[in-house]
Amino acid sequence: MTRKSIAIPPLTDELACVLIDAETIDRRVAELAQQINHDYANIKEPLILVGVLKGSFIFLADLCRKLTVPHVVDFISVSSYGKTTNTSGNVRLLMDTRENQENHHVLIVEDILDSGYTLDYLDRNFKTRGTKSVKNCVLLDKPDRHVVPVEISYLGFDVPDVWVVGYGLDVGEKYRTLPYIAEYKHEEA
Ligand code: XMP
Ligand code: MG
Repeated sequence: MTRKSIAIPPLTDELACVLIDAETIDRRVAELAQQINHDYANIKEPLILVGVLKGSFIFLADLCRKLTVPHVVDFISVSSYGKTTNTSGNVRLLMDTRENQENHHVLIVEDILDSGYTLDYLDRNFKTRGTKSVKNCVLLDKPDRHVVPVEISYLGFDVPDVWVVGYGLDVGEKYRTLPYIAEYKHEEA
């Protein structure tokens, strides 16, 4: 069988530059998985991975396929943004998980930490569910944007204070399936 190389989608006029290429993402996701495999090596019940929809779905898909520890995949959907790119700090639960997290270790898988409101809300929420532990695995962090302090358990990369798209992240549902993380040329309202 011959391997065909997959064409890398080019930048459009709306995208300023590639911030993190696909190979770099892949390597970092493997490192995060290795760390998680190590840290949860002795757990008795499967680790519950909770992907925060929609932005984390590609990251979660790649991460969980590199895990050797027993795990189940679940999802939650929250909103603090509406259709704009400004945070409101008002986090709403749109869709809850299906699994019962009682007596389980929970790992929240999030695409990006911005103000911190979303992860802070989720962290506090899961701690009320009789969980054994609640940690998070965040692909991207915008350290300059934090409003509430959140401790990151596993971090992929820091990014500057720009709107980023690709690898699950979008602007108005566009660019989610780019294999790299790119800067979107965004004008603040
Ligand atoms: P907070 O402010 O609660 O926000 O930490 C976390 C959520 O905001 C979204 N977000 C982004 N989505 N590109 C995106 O596609 C970005 O640059 C970006 N910054 C924040 C995202 O949904 C994240 O879960
Ligand atoms: Mg998100």
